[in-house]
Amino acid sequence: MAQIILKVDGVCKNFGGLSAVSEYQLALPEGKIFGLIGPNGAGKTTLFNLISGVIKPTKGHIFLKGTDITSWRPDQIAAMGLTRTFQNLRLFSSLTVEMNLKVAHHLHIDYRLTSALLNFPSLFQKEKQLQKKVDEILDVFVMSQYRQELTGNLPYGLQRKLDIARALMTEPEVILLDEPSSGMNTREAEDLAHLIGQLQIQFQLTLMVVEHRMAFVMGLAEVIQVLDYGSVLAQGSPEEVRNNPQVIEAYLGTGDSVA
Ligand SMILES: Nc1ncnc2c1ncn2[C@@H]1O[C@H](COP(=O)(O)OP(=O)(O)OP(=O)(O)O)[C@@H](O)[C@H]1O
Ligand SMILES: [Mg+2]
Repeated sequence: MAQIILKVDGVCKNFGGLSAVSEYQLALPEGKIFGLIGPNGAGKTTLFNLISGVIKPTKGHIFLKGTDITSWRPDQIAAMGLTRTFQNLRLFSSLTVEMNLKVAHHLHIDYRLTSALLNFPSLFQKEKQLQKKVDEILDVFVMSQYRQELTGNLPYGLQRKLDIARALMTEPEVILLDEPSSGMNTREAEDLAHLIGQLQIQFQLTLMVVEHRMAFVMGLAEVIQVLDYGSVLAQGSPEEVRNNPQVIEAYLGTGDSVA
C-alpha cells in the first residue's frame, strides 16, 4: 500500500451563508494521479485554495506528509513540497519563457538578498543550479526553442504547458492542477495528458487533477472523486464513477457528460 501523502479531514469552508466545501475527506496515496470532478460551482477550486493555503478553512485539518499544515501560508506549503496551478493562467506575459521559470523558483524558495550579498560565491552557485533546472524542465516540456520568446506571444496551448512547468520549478512532490486542459483543442489536450503521465513517472509526483474534459481525466487518473455541492458524492475507479447513478444524475443538464 502506498503512503498517504496528503490527508484532508473534515474540512469546511463557508462564504457568508454559502457552504462551498462541507466535511470534506481525502486520503491521497503517494505516487498516484487522482482526479477530482464535479459540476460548476461544486467547490473544486475552493478545495485547491484551501489545500494550497490561499484561503483558510472554517473547520477541519489538512496534513501534508503527516504534518498539520492547516492555515499555513502558500509559500510555506510550497517549501514543504506541495504546489498548484490556477484555473486562469498567472504567467508574466511580458517576460520570456525562461524568466517565468526563474521567477517561479525565486517566488517560492528561500532566497534572501542579504545572505546572497554576504555570500556571493554561494549566489553564483545557486544561479548555476537554477539555470540547470530551467534547462532540464524546458527539455522535458520540449520547449527549449521558446526560451527567449515573450510568454504572451506563445500559442495558448504552450502557455498552459509553461504554467505546469513553472509549478515544477519548486521541485514539488504533490501538484494540484486546476483544469490544465482548459481552452486547449483535442489534440493539445491529448498531448498534455501524455505529458502529465510522463511527468508523474519522471519526477515521482503525486497529482490531483481537476478537469471538465472527461476523456482526459478518466484516461489519466486511477481514482476519481466526485464533488457535488461541496461534499464527496462518490469515489472510485473511472469505470465505477462513470456508472454511478448518483453521479450521472448530478451531471444531468450541466453540459458535461460522465457516461
Ligand atoms: N471568495 C469567494 N467568496 C464567495 N463565494 C465564493 C468564493 N469562492 C468561491 N465561492 C463560491 O463557492 C462555490 C464553489 O466555487 P468553486 O469556484 O470552488 O467551484 P468549482 O467547482 O471550482 O467550479 P468550476 O467548475 O466552475 O471551476 C460557488 O458557489 C462559488 O460561487
Ligand atoms: Mg474551479
